Amino acid sequence: MPFPARFRWGVATAAYQIEGAAAEDGRGDSVWDVFCREPGRVRDGHTGDVACDHYHRWPEDVALMAGLGVDAYRFSIAWPRVQPDGRGAAEPRGLDFYDRLVDALLERGITPFPTLFHWDLPQALEDRGGWMNREVAHRFAEYAALVAGRLADRVEHWITLNEPVVVTAFGYALGIHAPGRTLLLDAMPTAHHQLLGHGLAVTALREQGARQVGLTNHYSPAWAADETSEADRRAAAAFDVFMNRLYTESVLRGRYPDLSVLGDLDPASFVRDGDLAVIGAPVDFLGVNYYNPTRVKAPGPGDPLPFEIAPIEEYPTTGMGWPIVPDAFLGLLRTLRETYPDALPPIYVTENGCTFGDSIHDEERIDFLARHIDAVHRAVDEGVDVRGYFVWSLLDNFEWAEGYHARFGLVHVDYDTQRRTPKDSYAWYRDHIARSRGQVTG
Ligand code: BGC
Repeated sequence: MPFPARFRWGVATAAYQIEGAAAEDGRGDSVWDVFCREPGRVRDGHTGDVACDHYHRWPEDVALMAGLGVDAYRFSIAWPRVQPDGRGAAEPRGLDFYDRLVDALLERGITPFPTLFHWDLPQALEDRGGWMNREVAHRFAEYAALVAGRLADRVEHWITLNEPVVVTAFGYALGIHAPGRTLLLDAMPTAHHQLLGHGLAVTALREQGARQVGLTNHYSPAWAADETSEADRRAAAAFDVFMNRLYTESVLRGRYPDLSVLGDLDPASFVRDGDLAVIGAPVDFLGVNYYNPTRVKAPGPGDPLPFEIAPIEEYPTTGMGWPIVPDAFLGLLRTLRETYPDALPPIYVTENGCTFGDSIHDEERIDFLARHIDAVHRAVDEGVDVRGYFVWSLLDNFEWAEGYHARFGLVHVDYDTQRRTPKDSYAWYRDHIARSRGQVTG
């Protein structure tokens, strides 16, 4: 069976990872600007100050997308460009940038899929506690309304949050990402407040005329290290709640899974009456980001978390050391359908991709993408309603704590000259899209 006719092929990026121009046109500091300035946080002291200079070179980048023939582009809007202090009136120059980008995309027949929050929280809000502070959820909805007020006449698809679990786990629990806090399980209110912000934003966006609203979650299937060990199975189930189910069950069913599996946690201290009804407001699609499964074992004595991560050694890995397991992707898509048969909206795969050194002859990336797209294809054949697939990423870019060392792009970026060079995978994806159009039916 071919892919359905209206299946959308796309590429994805995020503001802080590509834009640069960190101090231009009134943009305020985000938590990532501040984090990057702290010695030792990001590899080799790299920052997003210049990144891919997309803020100035966006016409070239849109042309690269047009050359690929993509149907859709997922990018993110930098909250601190729109509200430098995270509140109040919009900075018009910030909105102008996205306005021009949207028009250029539409002229090329590329459907915009903006994400409102891809981790660059205005530092002014972090100074008030960031996502630990419930008030930030309300600020987020106001910001969403400002952006949609400007763009929803042309933008149909909206993604509220990118991967709230990563913000909670890496940003607030473990301190690997901005804002670098190490609260461990005390970080859990940040998950709730992001989800609350999502729910409030869904309503705010619809009020401004947004027609298709969803959120993007990061999914990693949890494998018990030893299937015969009850302790390992319990740890894997806890990881599954922490990583996957918390963000799915709440949004799709308006309830949390049993959070007591995570340990000594008092949800009543941060969840208020009515919150879950807000969080469970119907969405039009679910964004799924998939990179790899995670092997989980029982925690050691005194471990503050209810699970430990164990290596997966029997599969080849990407440049990040992440195991390459396309079958786990198929398994994930099946699991979503089986777990939420009546509640699962259409899915967009909003990110999938890999790093492998910096050669433009990237056979391994082609193989990775082909095998993961095949997994999506099989899921579609089995009846999972997947409507699109976005490669992470269009360009090599600022890979968070890894700085510029990890290159995920279909297009190589020379950071000294900002020269863009399409890799072999770019040509492959272009041909794949063209072929799949040639085959489409119905
Ligand atoms: C994030 C991207 C990131 C990618 C590769 C995802 O978790 O949304 O921003 O670059 O993974 O690590």
